[in-house]
Amino acid sequence: MPKLSQWFIKSAVIYVILGMLLGIAMGMKQDFTLAPAHAHLNLIGWVSLALMGLYYNAVPAKAAWRAAFVQFWISTVGVWVIIPGLILTLLQVPVGEPLVILGSLVTLIGMILFAINVYRS
Ligand code: HEM
Repeated sequence: MPKLSQWFIKSAVIYVILGMLLGIAMGMKQDFTLAPAHAHLNLIGWVSLALMGLYYNAVPAKAAWRAAFVQFWISTVGVWVIIPGLILTLLQVPVGEPLVILGSLVTLIGMILFAINVYRS
């Protein structure tokens, strides 16, 4: 398995464990305020990143593209910014909103870079 795939999968499993813990905490407290943050942590952090990791494993030539590592870091920073931003926004902390906007744009750039790699011949 290419190193890049391992990076994606190893980070994705950390995000899903955090996402599940958040889900369990919400259930225990019966407070679902953070449900959108839980959903995005699982769907961006786990599902999207794991899919990228599996793609790079299936098409190792794409993992050799130098910008693919840049794409990993952009997608990673996207998760690190958008999720705390979402949590703060849902908790009505004003600084959360600019973080969500920034994190969304970084996440989008990561996905566009991934798409460029997928379409690249
Ligand atoms: C231990 C595992 C998990 C637990 C305990 C858990 C728990 C929860 C809870 C308590 C809610 C809120 C339900 C409500 O608002 O009534 C929720 C919503 C949700 N969960 Fe999970 N979850 C888990 C795993 C996952 C995973 C792996 C994914 C996706 C890959 C996921 C995706 C979602 C989505 C999309 C929602 C809806 C969010 C919303 O309505 O804003 N969950 N989950």
